[in-house]
Amino acid sequence: MSLFSRVKPLSTILAEGGDTEHGLKRSLGPWALTAMGIGAIIGTGIFVLTGVASATRAGPALTVSFVVAGIVSVLAALCYAEVSSKIPISGSAYTYTYATLGEFLAWIVGWGLVFEYALGAATVSVGWSGYFTFIIHTLFNWNIPQAWQHSHWDATPGIANLPAAGIVLLITALLVRGTKESGLVNAIIVTFKVVVVLFFIAIGVGHIDKANYHLAAGPLTHAGGYFPFGWGGAIAGAAFMFFAYIGFDAVSTAAEEARNPKKDLPFAIIMSLGICTVLYIVVAAILDGIVPFYKLNVAFPVAFAMNYVGLAWAGVVISFGAIAGLTTVMLVMMFGQTRIFFAMSRDKLIPPSFVRLHPVWRTPFFSQIFFGVLIAIAGALFPISILGSATNMGTLIAFILVSLAVPVLRKRHPELQGTFTVSFGPYLIPVLTAVSSLFLIYFLKVGNPLVWGFFPIVWLAFLVWGVIGLTLYFTYGRRKSTVALQEAERVAITQPRVN
Ligand code: ALA
Repeated sequence: MSLFSRVKPLSTILAEGGDTEHGLKRSLGPWALTAMGIGAIIGTGIFVLTGVASATRAGPALTVSFVVAGIVSVLAALCYAEVSSKIPISGSAYTYTYATLGEFLAWIVGWGLVFEYALGAATVSVGWSGYFTFIIHTLFNWNIPQAWQHSHWDATPGIANLPAAGIVLLITALLVRGTKESGLVNAIIVTFKVVVVLFFIAIGVGHIDKANYHLAAGPLTHAGGYFPFGWGGAIAGAAFMFFAYIGFDAVSTAAEEARNPKKDLPFAIIMSLGICTVLYIVVAAILDGIVPFYKLNVAFPVAFAMNYVGLAWAGVVISFGAIAGLTTVMLVMMFGQTRIFFAMSRDKLIPPSFVRLHPVWRTPFFSQIFFGVLIAIAGALFPISILGSATNMGTLIAFILVSLAVPVLRKRHPELQGTFTVSFGPYLIPVLTAVSSLFLIYFLKVGNPLVWGFFPIVWLAFLVWGVIGLTLYFTYGRRKSTVALQEAERVAITQPRVN
C-alpha cells in the first residue's frame, strides 16, 4: 500500500459524525457559527499587527495588502466551503485530506493545523497582553514589571510574558467547562468587538487627512506616496497581514456541534470572511488616513489613532473592545485546536487517551489542558512577530492541501452532493488558491529573521515541527491507525487458508 493510497472511507467518516449518542453535543446554528467565525477572525491582525505592517512594510498601501491577503483567503474559503459541505465532520482540513489525498498527507495537514492553532492562540495572547498592560497603565497608572510582561526576545527584553500565559490558562478552564457556555460568552463578546470596530470607523472617517496617503519622500517616509516600500512592500504586508484572516476555517472544526452542518458551514465560512474583509479594508484606509504611517509602529495602533486626534476616551473604549476581541479569537482557536486532535486521536493516529471526553461536560478535557499549558508557555516565551509568521506558514500549507482536495473529491466521489460548489470547474479556483498561498509563503521571508543568512526562521520552525510529526507518524500512527487495522484485517481475510 503506497503512502498516498490509504484513504479513510467516506462512509466511515460520515457515520462517525452522525453518531450523536457518543459524539459531541449539536448546539450551534448558522448565526452562532458565523459569530464563531467572526470571533476567530477579527483580532490581533487588525488591532495589533496593522501598526507594524503600515510602519515597516506597506505604508498607506496596507489597504492593498488587505485586498491581496483577502483574495487568497476568499479563494481558500471557497474550497473550504465546498469540501466542508460534502464532509461536514469535525477535524476540518485534516478530515477532508484523509478522505481524499490519504492518511499520510492528512497527518501532515492535521499536524500543521495543530501548529497553526496553537501558535495562533499564543500569538494572540501576546497581543492581548499588550492591550491589557496598556489599559491597566492608563486607568490605574499601574505597571507590570517589564521582566514579567515581555519575552526574552522582545524589543524590550524581559523574562516571560505572564499576562499572556494567564489569559491562555483562563480560556483553557472555560473551554474545559463546555462548548455551550463558551459559545454564549463568545457571542456576547463578538458583538462588542464588531461594535467597537464600527465605532472606530464612524469616528475615524471624519478625521482623515488625505495628505497622509501621499507623504513626501524622506528618511522616515522612505519613497513616500501611497507605496513608500514599493509593490514588494505591499505584498510583504499581505503575507504578514494574512494573519488577520486566519480563523474562518475554525468554523469547519465545529461541524459535529452544528445543527445543520451541510448548509450552515459554507454559509458561516463565507459570511464571516466577507464581513471581516470589508471591515479590514475600511479600517486600514482610515488608520493610515488619520496617522502618518511611519508613526504607527506601536502595540495598540487603533487606540493610538484615536489619541492622535485628541479622543483619548475613544481610545480606551476601543482598547476594551480589542481585549474582548482578542479573547474570543483565542477561545475559537483553542477550541478548534483540540477538535483537530479529537479527530486525529479518534482515528488512532495518536494515543487514544486524547479522545477521552469528560463524563459530565463532554469536552475533550485531557487534550485541552495538555495544549493549554503548551500554548501558555509559547505565549510567555516567544515574541509576537515570530509566532504570527509561523502561524501564517502552517495555515497556508493547510490551504494548499484543502484546495487539492476539491478536484480529488469530485473525481473519486461524484455521488457526494454538497450544498456549495466552487464555480469555474474543479481546477481553476483550487489551483489559484494553491499558487497564491505559495506566493505568500515566499513573501513571509520579508521582515523575519534569517538563519544561515538566507533561510527564514519561520520556514525552519515549520520544518522542525514537520520532522517531529513525521517521526511520530512512522513510529506510531502508521501502524496503529484504525484504517491501518482495517486494512490488515482485509488482508488476513483474503489470504488463502494454509490447510
Ligand atoms: N485572525 C485572527 C487575528 O487577527 C487570528 O487575531
